[in-house]
Amino acid sequence: MRKFLIAGNWKMNLNADEGADLVADIVSVAGKQTSVNVCLCPPFTGLESAAKGVEGSNVSLGAQNFHPEPSGAYTGEISAGMLRHLYCSHVILGHSERREYFSETDAFINQKVKTSLESALKPILCVGETLEQRESGQTNEVVRKQVQGGLAEIMASQSEGLVIAYEPVWAIGTGKTATPEMAQEVHAEIRNLLSQQLSEEVANRTRILYGGSMKPENAKELLAQEDIDGGLIGGASLKASSFNAIIEAAIELAS
Ligand code: 13P
Repeated sequence: MRKFLIAGNWKMNLNADEGADLVADIVSVAGKQTSVNVCLCPPFTGLESAAKGVEGSNVSLGAQNFHPEPSGAYTGEISAGMLRHLYCSHVILGHSERREYFSETDAFINQKVKTSLESALKPILCVGETLEQRESGQTNEVVRKQVQGGLAEIMASQSEGLVIAYEPVWAIGTGKTATPEMAQEVHAEIRNLLSQQLSEEVANRTRILYGGSMKPENAKELLAQEDIDGGLIGGASLKASSFNAIIEAAIELAS
């Protein structure tokens, strides 16, 4: 019922030319198929060349951040309208790296989620606990606070296109992956939170992605879990061979 979404978060990697080469290699494999959704999120400087590369294909484009105001004196920032102008359909919000290195709060992330939904940009709202929080039994509490805070004052009727990504911080870029069972448990909890906060219908249709050292070797068993509806992939999205292999694992499970 929920189509897999395989999204690549390139983070601060690849210039526009390098990105264009990677886009071409992904589009050649995933551009025509329709059984899974694929989204590439280059840095801002790579969006224009990536937009040309995905044109006419089924691969969509996302950004990694934006500012919630529509325009104005916000030096160094980019608006939702600017991203729409570059054919972005998605935007990653609340990534743990932005929470940690740029002190982003749930309240600020919430402003961006609201603006993105109003601007027809599908937010990929990231949540997840640190190792310390997991080890002290706070995983569900942390995730609940981030989901409730990120989605505060949003109505079920406004949540079309919403995507959540569960990214345990301790699994990001570390090679440590949550076991499929550990991930499934938190995904089920997130779906439960969506049901309480928005509606059961929204909970059933909202895709919840897993992120944190997802790679071809573990993608299939993670994606096979009932409440895992795709992946938000960092390191393994920077090489066409590994990203395409993850897409192919999803296509196999979907058929
Ligand atoms: P890695 O796949 O490199 O662990 O990164 C995950 C991530 O942060 C995606 O947003």
